[in-house]
Amino acid sequence: MKKKIAVLPGDGIGPEVMDGALKVLKAVGDWFNHEFEVEKGYIGGAAVDQFGSPLPAETIELCKKSDAILLGAVGGPQWENLPKEQRPEKGLLGIRKEFELFANLRPVKAFDSLISASPLKKEIVEDVDMIIVRELTGGLYFGQPSGRQGAEDEVAVDTLVYEKSEIERIVHKAFRLAQKRKKRLTSVDKANVLETSRMWREIVNEAAKEYPEVEVEHMLVDVAAMKLMYQPGQFDVMVTENMFGDILSDEASMITGSLGMLPSASLREDAFGLYEPVHGSAPDIAGKGKANPLAMILSVAMMLRHSFGMQEEAEMIEMAVQEVLNAGFRTGDLWSGGRGTAVGTEAMSDLVVERLEADHALSSILSA
Ligand code: NAD
Ligand code: IPM
Ligand code: MN
Repeated sequence: MKKKIAVLPGDGIGPEVMDGALKVLKAVGDWFNHEFEVEKGYIGGAAVDQFGSPLPAETIELCKKSDAILLGAVGGPQWENLPKEQRPEKGLLGIRKEFELFANLRPVKAFDSLISASPLKKEIVEDVDMIIVRELTGGLYFGQPSGRQGAEDEVAVDTLVYEKSEIERIVHKAFRLAQKRKKRLTSVDKANVLETSRMWREIVNEAAKEYPEVEVEHMLVDVAAMKLMYQPGQFDVMVTENMFGDILSDEASMITGSLGMLPSASLREDAFGLYEPVHGSAPDIAGKGKANPLAMILSVAMMLRHSFGMQEEAEMIEMAVQEVLNAGFRTGDLWSGGRGTAVGTEAMSDLVVERLEADHALSSILSA
């Protein structure tokens, strides 16, 4: 199969983790005879430096002619004081909105060999297999007005607004996902305070009638934050609005041992999607070759599964990651001394590629 992929490495550790992800993509392509044509483009601070805009027209054109987008990360201290339209993050928000990628899937599953890497107790994290479905193109991130008001800019405004249709489409997406999983949906809101949340609840209750086999629970976001640390095993699919999903997913990442482990898919109704790690550009470790590339590599697996329907290929990547972790290799974020082998970004990516090549060779022998 032939697929075209827009590759936007971005800033900080983005390009570092992307390098490894592209090697993994190539290894899968070689194994399964797929032609993955990759073309690089600019986003975020790198795009500001090159084109004066965090989301240049060239990048949008590149993405339009592609079947999917892989994105590293954006942002960094050197761009923090730019006018808000030029901030790197604006490029990321812009691309999500431009392509109407309203459904952000953030799976949270602890690999067995990383259970001890989590700061939480073994009994708490061992059975976790959940997915956060975050609304991505509405809410506080995009509501108008937003900005400063008053004669002396003494008032700051952000607007939390949702249209019914925006909530309906994400809620139905979450229900359909729950149908295919353990059939439990937790809808997270702040309905005791916010009007948007009260409408969100009504829409969830209405939609629930179409999915009688799915057990639905409403949970306030503050309690959800606590339950993620206390009993995360109770969750299957968690659906929530844009900002709650942002915060809860970073929190949930620690169940897996590190923010550097969490991949994501940003989807709409067709097969097109954007795939990126949940983490950011990590300026504190950028340029040091220390970043964990696995969230980016696992995002490639999500791309193969969700945009290209390549289920087996995706599983081979996930299995290779698992094998490398089982063999005791750890980047710094997962390493607290003791047994195992500490590795950097490039070595970790290469280990996954080597595993894939070894698994490929083995499967060729077995099928010969
Ligand atoms: P961050 O996610 O970049 O980093 C938070 C902490 O986690 C840091 O200590 C970092 O070293 C660590 N970390 C993150 N990813 C890691 C990895 N792969 N391996 C090892 N350690 C990792 O969040 P931040 O520092 O608050 O933000 C930095 C910049 O990134 C900001 O400009 C922010 O806006 C941006 N950001 C971008 C995205 C994105 O592009 N999707 C996501 C989050 C933050
Ligand atoms: C994420 C990031 C972004 C978000 C920022 C960088 C705009 O934190 O992808 O989780 O808040 O959506
Ligand atoms: Mn975030």
